[in-house]
Amino acid sequence: MTWLSCLKADAKQSALAAQYALAVLTLAACSPPPRASTVSSDNAPADGAALYEQSCAMCHFNGADSQAAPPLIGSAMVRDHPRALIAAIVDGMRNTSVVNGKKFGGIMPATAGLSDAEIAAVVTFVRQRYGGATEVTTAAEVAATH
Ligand code: HEC
Repeated sequence: MTWLSCLKADAKQSALAAQYALAVLTLAACSPPPRASTVSSDNAPADGAALYEQSCAMCHFNGADSQAAPPLIGSAMVRDHPRALIAAIVDGMRNTSVVNGKKFGGIMPATAGLSDAEIAAVVTFVRQRYGGATEVTTAAEVAATH
């Protein structure tokens, strides 16, 4: 039995397991992340969009609900709680996500290897792009949060 047929075997019962398996498979397929374009050694400002593609898009895609992760569009955390979003990126999340009153499950691994400036850039990008926020999150705010 291939993993795909495994996942399809009992869609209802194994929805959560499938979600997790997908996330793990996606992670395995995508690590280590390519970092060449976003390393900050050249002092270029961190590129939030590129960092999103590199560290988040494999699960969150274009911000809509996906099999691997809850939607970012409509998320109160994304819209209103930058500190919680920073914590989610730094520490990961496990079976706590609720968006638009719907409970999501699954495991979001901690995102390793991002500098404070890079976390600030991806938080700013995600909040502006998917949460309609206008504020910019700074590296100093990230440093103060963890
Ligand atoms: C391996 C897949 C994966 C990756 C990579 C990932 N996430 Fe997640 N994310 C998840 C899952 C699964 C959840 C739900 C966790 C839970 O239920 O506690 C989640 C939850 C979230 C939430 C909470 C939404 C809410 O309001 O409850 C936010 C915000 C978020 N992720 C943003 C990001 C950002 C930004 C990145 C990149 C830095 C990222 N995620 C990378 C899988 C992922």
